[in-house]
Amino acid sequence: FPIVVLISGSGSNLQALIDQSLQGQLNINICAVISNKADAYGLERAKKAGIPTHALDHRSFDGREAFDAKLQETIDIYKPKLVVLAGFMRILTEAFTKHYDGRMLNIHPSLLPKYKGLDTHQRAIDAGEKEHGVSVHFVSSELDSGAVIVQASTDIETNETVDTLAAKIHSLEHVIYPLAVKWFSEEQLTFRNGTVTLNGKALPESGI
Ligand code: GRF
Repeated sequence: FPIVVLISGSGSNLQALIDQSLQGQLNINICAVISNKADAYGLERAKKAGIPTHALDHRSFDGREAFDAKLQETIDIYKPKLVVLAGFMRILTEAFTKHYDGRMLNIHPSLLPKYKGLDTHQRAIDAGEKEHGVSVHFVSSELDSGAVIVQASTDIETNETVDTLAAKIHSLEHVIYPLAVKWFSEEQLTFRNGTVTLNGKALPESGI
């Protein structure tokens, strides 16, 4: 099952996908990893796994449309059935998100619809939240707003810091992201006409 993964940083979620596919838990073929940052550590992880990589520096393009057009062209060389955003820190144009409608996933470190955008751990602690978590969702044209597929949560302890919370959230990410990719690759998960269907059942909370 061909997928392309987009990253900007460390790529620990990419690593979770690589590991699970090597262990035979995930029947995917990561055709390529694309980063907008040439020094993203995730590119090293991909190379180690023998996966083709591309670094596309968004700063060398004349605007978002031009960057997204090149990104789309690069992704589509591999004819992926799914595009996986794994810490890809770029806002995407509507044309790009439309092109991959129903076949692009993102992972966001909050219990959506709470805390869209950046600094989610700090904001959750500052707001005195008792729990925090992470969401896998289909990508729509609005930032962090597509239909939610699966979430995982953890308690926020009284002495919690951004670092301790981030570590807990990361380990949850490495469980639920491969799981959502597995569901999609096995055609247990679909997104059509604004509704997520998992194992033949529409997820009631998933509507945008
Ligand atoms: C994760 O926290 C994810 O939720 C967010 O970006 C981070 C990526 O981490 N979208 P990594 O590069 O996969 O380690």
